[in-house]
Amino acid sequence: MADTLTTPLTRAAGIEVPLVCGAMYPCSNPELVAAVSEAGGIGIVQPIALTYVHGHDFREGLRLIRRLTAKPIGMNALIEQSSKAYRERMERWIDVALEEGVRFFVTSLGNPRWVVDRVSPAGGVVYHDVTERKWAEKGIAGGVQGLIGVNDRAGGHAGARSAEALLEELAPLGLPVVCAGGVGSEQDFARALRMGYAGAQLGTRFIATPECRASEAYKRGIVEAGEKDIVLTERLTGVPVAVIDTPSVRRLGTKAGPLARFMLRGRRTKHWMRTLYALRSLWALKRGLLRDSPERDFWQAGKSVAGIHRIEPAGDIVRRFAEAWRTTA
Ligand SMILES: Cc1cc2nc3c(=O)[nH]c(=O)nc-3n(C[C@H](O)[C@H](O)[C@H](O)COP(=O)(O)O)c2cc1C
Repeated sequence: MADTLTTPLTRAAGIEVPLVCGAMYPCSNPELVAAVSEAGGIGIVQPIALTYVHGHDFREGLRLIRRLTAKPIGMNALIEQSSKAYRERMERWIDVALEEGVRFFVTSLGNPRWVVDRVSPAGGVVYHDVTERKWAEKGIAGGVQGLIGVNDRAGGHAGARSAEALLEELAPLGLPVVCAGGVGSEQDFARALRMGYAGAQLGTRFIATPECRASEAYKRGIVEAGEKDIVLTERLTGVPVAVIDTPSVRRLGTKAGPLARFMLRGRRTKHWMRTLYALRSLWALKRGLLRDSPERDFWQAGKSVAGIHRIEPAGDIVRRFAEAWRTTA
């Protein structure tokens, strides 16, 4: 009998458990990525977090992870076309990742074709984050091998569809679909696989781990928060981001102001505004990650907080989820 944990995702990524620790700016640190991979899932490196937040040279950061695990790791390429310099930087990061043995890539936001063209000759596989069918079709036209369906319960930039509705929309396209959003417990994991997903990509659950370098206050915030404490704010990045409703978020507000809105709509001004937001949010989120300060508690988290009740080693989470699925499938 085939192991019930074997799915198109585990085959494509060369892993044992169909569980991805999604890229998280600013939370993805090398120890967290390595711990998830070492336990049989796959940790995804977020290059800006690795370099700007955690202070590693990109190649050295990858080598540090390699010293902690020999198992596959992945890399996230946020490919929104905002500037030429950013694109060139991302191309270099991808080349270094390939040289260091990375073969699994998760693209988000833009057209992934150039990433596919760059990594396929080396045997690299690209899974593309999408929130609706339109983006999935664009990704498929660009040659991606799998989709990650980001639903309305996800941390980070959430989608608008439920996990069920999104799968219904994406499954007919014929590629494996991974569930991103709302998976905080082993029951949530089993439910996603039972629905027909090829695996799950988790973010929030892995912040509440000893390996994640987030502040204790942030981790406690996740453990203590319920679903109703998660709100969307446009004020951090210009598009809605799921965060815990802290005093700092209430002060900042949740809607972009009228000028920002106008700028975000214009074809030419949109990129400038996004860059501005991106720079501001990179800084605010970095400060919020590492410091226990009530003035800077900008804590991204999704509705999966509902199923997260303790801080737990990342490897234990992977093993517990895998075991629960093995015994119920
Ligand atoms: C703090 C945080 C930061 C994130 N940053 C990124 C990112 O930089 N790139 C990306 O593609 N997805 C990002 N995500 C999305 C995650 O990779 C993943 O898809 C999502 O967290 C799944 O939902 P969950 O938090 O409910 O598990 C982020 C999520 C969180 C919670």
